[in-house]
Parts: sequence; structure tokens; C-alpha cells
Amino acid sequence: MERTYEELKNQMAMIDEFIETAYEGMAIVDEKGYITKFKYEKLLGIKEKDVLGKHVTEVLENTRLDIILKTGKSEIGDIQVMNGKEMITSRIPIHRDGKVIGAVGTVLFKDVSEVKYMADYIENIKTQMKDYKQEIKRLNQAKYSFENIITQNQQMQGLIKIAKRAAETHSTVCITGESGTGKEYFAHSIHKASPRRYGPFVRINCAAIPKDLLESELFGYAPGAFTGASNSGKIGKFELASGGTIFLDEIGSMPLEMQSKLLRVLEEREFERIGSNQKVDVDVRIISATNEELRALVEKEKFREDLYYRLEVVAIKIPPLRHRKEDIPLLVKSMLNVMSATYEAPIKHFTEEALLKLQDHNWPGNVRELRNVVESAMNMAQTTEVGVTELPEHIQQIPIVTLHDDERIVVEDSESIQTGLKYEASSLNLKSNMEELEKALIIEALVRANGSKTRAAKYMGIHRTALYKKMAKLGMDV
Ligand SMILES: Nc1ncnc2c1ncn2[C@@H]1O[C@H](COP(=O)(O)OP(=O)(O)O)[C@@H](O)[C@H]1O
Ligand SMILES: [Mg+2]
Repeated sequence: MERTYEELKNQMAMIDEFIETAYEGMAIVDEKGYITKFKYEKLLGIKEKDVLGKHVTEVLENTRLDIILKTGKSEIGDIQVMNGKEMITSRIPIHRDGKVIGAVGTVLFKDVSEVKYMADYIENIKTQMKDYKQEIKRLNQAKYSFENIITQNQQMQGLIKIAKRAAETHSTVCITGESGTGKEYFAHSIHKASPRRYGPFVRINCAAIPKDLLESELFGYAPGAFTGASNSGKIGKFELASGGTIFLDEIGSMPLEMQSKLLRVLEEREFERIGSNQKVDVDVRIISATNEELRALVEKEKFREDLYYRLEVVAIKIPPLRHRKEDIPLLVKSMLNVMSATYEAPIKHFTEEALLKLQDHNWPGNVRELRNVVESAMNMAQTTEVGVTELPEHIQQIPIVTLHDDERIVVEDSESIQTGLKYEASSLNLKSNMEELEKALIIEALVRANGSKTRAAKYMGIHRTALYKKMAKLGMDV
């Protein structure tokens, strides 16, 4: 008995405390309307002990608690004027065995302007949410489509055809090609041509994300999943891409451990955020890209074979720019158009010689490198004509070699182009040219060594007897 009494007393104290803090004001009346509890001291300056047992209509201005007792119906969020102020109040009847045995009145906001403030605040948050959602949508959208892939190369046109057909299906596509060949352009284009085009396009660069973070980037984590985890948890790229496409760029750099996890997710078509056991459906099309062929990585045991088969349902292998040099003039023209539109500058064009120079370069950085060269040359040019001299040094240096029908080889280097002189390559023969070079080096070394062959040999990093032999062979005076 004593324990129950103590517990009850504690509970009452807790309820009192709750009433004191939860509401700005509150009154409880019995079934006839007499006050049994009254917490209005802070708001109206009336002490509870002065009003206990009084009828509520004598104490509270504009009260409707007496009416509630008769109607038995709640009135939530009503405006009630007390002390000349509009307050937001609620009145709730207390039922027991189907009869009204009392009523509770509470003040939710002691000033209508507070409600307005709250409403504005919520409205504001709602607008911000909308803005952020739009921003997220904008950031996760495909930017390029097949029209942006400029090419007249047959192999490329074949690839575009395959990619367009794959776009209509749900198949996973794997794009390979050297860096800068346009893998990302293809990925965007496939998404844009697919039935998922109105969904998000989300890219993740598997090579740029530290190993330990890759899993949470891909699959997200639950609130408080690990120390340092954000309180609100984090959405992963797979969830973000739901209904759309996920582009796993540089998949060849994905650690083996992560490959196993990815494979499991693809097989089960569902996953959990880290630290959660709630299943999330995988509703994404997967496009991956890599500059190393996955097949080769499988052979080196750096890539799981089973994952490779899942990813490379459709394979698109983009040839490097040096294997489709006929695209260069076309690409340059399209790039110049885009750039002049961006800079609002007049459209420039490359001279025939400059275009030839570009076609003689090897383009290890592919179309990306070409873009940079075109942009810098365009900015260098004083007129609307972009010539050889505007090209970067290393591209100017390459002699233009023309093979004539009569098998004459004509070499034009940047100097001869500037002076208008062309010279016929007396010989591109490696051996005779090497001999000339060796002779020149030996003479230079002998001059510096004041004629001492021992010292000259030392300068050249060879033995003295080797120098003698070389000189004899080259027909030099020993
Ligand atoms: N076919 C193309 N037509 C026009 N521009 C291209 C083409 N391919 C690549 N580019 C240009 O080259 C850059 C690199 O392309 P990207 O798709 O990022 O290459 P990758 O992903 O293979 O490294 C792009 O920003 C774009 O400017
Ligand atoms: Mg790329």
C-alpha cells in the first residue's frame, strides 16, 4: 500500500511538472465546471490557491469550458481573448463510462503572432526544402545526349547505334576507353535516351573515394551507425539514383572487398544502409566505365569475374582519338562554336595547316586534350583565324609529313611553314641520321676536351677504346 501511495505521489508530481512546463496555461474543471486544477499564474497572475473550487466562468475570461461540459465536444485551436490578448486555446472534455466528468482547457500559444511566426517559419523551411530538392535534382541530371557526340568515324557510329539500342533496355552497360575519349558523354547519353530519362542520373567516381568511405557513399548509413556518423544518417548514391541510372566511373579501381558487396546487391536487388536492417529496393540501371579493360583486370585477379559478367552485358569500347583522326576537324569546329557561344565571342576557325598539325599529334589525353588545346589556341589568336603559331609548342614541333604519289616524302616543320619553305626529307633513314648525330656528338665532346680523346670518352660515358672504334667506323680521323 505504502509503495503504491509513494508511486502515485511521484506520478502526480510528474504530471504537475509536466503541466507547468508543457503549457503556457491550463485549467481542469469537474463535471459542474468547478476548478480542480489551475496553472495560470505566469500568464494571468492568478494563483491556483485563490481560485480552487470556484466556478470557471467567474475566473477565466471568455472561457467555454462550461459549454464543453454540455456539448461533450472538443474545441481545438480556438482564439480566446484574455487580458486583452488573443491566445490560441484548446478545450477537451473528459469522458468516463460515456459521461462527461470534467474538462481541460489549455493555452497552446499565448499570442496569435507566435502562431503566425511559427507558420512563417515552417513555410520558410518548406520553401528551402523545395529549393534543395530541385538543386539535388539539377545536380543529378544527365547533361549530354547522343547529339553531343561528334563523330564521322564508322566505328564510333557503330558504337552509338549499339548504345542507343542498349538505352531502350534495362541492360547493364560497361564503357571502356582511354581517359578523355568520351566515356562520360556516352553514359549521360544512354541515360537520356532511356525510359528512365526523367529519373536521376547519379555519378560516382570509384577511384576518387577512399576505400573506407566507398561503401557508405554507395549505400548510405543509418543515424548513428558509427562514431562520427551524422545524426540524421546519410543517403547513398544507389538510393539517390532510384528510378534512374547510377554511373560507376572508374570501376576498375573498386577494391575487391567492395566488388563482393556490389555483386551481392546486384544479385539480391536490395540492400541495407550501413547500421540499418531496413531493406531498400535497387531500382537503378547501372552503367560503368573504366580505362583499363575489365577482362584484363580479371586475368590479373584485380577484378571479380562474376561481377565482370554482370556489368559487361553490353560492352562499348571507345577508340582513342589517334585512331579516328578524321574526327579532329569536326570536333574542332564544334568546340569552337560552343566556346564562342559561351564567351559570347566571334566564331574563329583553324587554318588548314593548323588542322594538319592537330592531326599529326598523338593525343594521349584524347578529346579532353584536344579541347584544352583548341581553347588555348582560340584565346591566343588575335584575329578570327587560328594558325600554327597559336598552337602549344609541343604540337607545333611535330613536322607535317606528306607522302606523295611518286613516293617522295615532304616534311614541313613549323619553321618552314612560317618561312614558306618546305624541304624534302633527304632521308628519314634512322641509321644514317643516327650516324650523323653520333658524329656531331663526338666532335662536340672533342672540342670541349681540347682534343683529349680520353676526356671526350669520359664526357660521353663510354670507354676510350669504344670511342676509337666508333670514330673509325664513322670514317673520322683517329
Ligand atoms: N565525341 C565527343 N564530342 C564532343 N566532345 C567530346 C566528345 N568526347 C569527349 N568530348 C570532350 O572531352 C571531354 C572528356 O570526355 P569524358 O566523357 O569526360 O571522357 P572520359 O570519361 O572518357 O575521360 C568532355 O568534357 C568533352 O569536352
Ligand atoms: Mg571520365
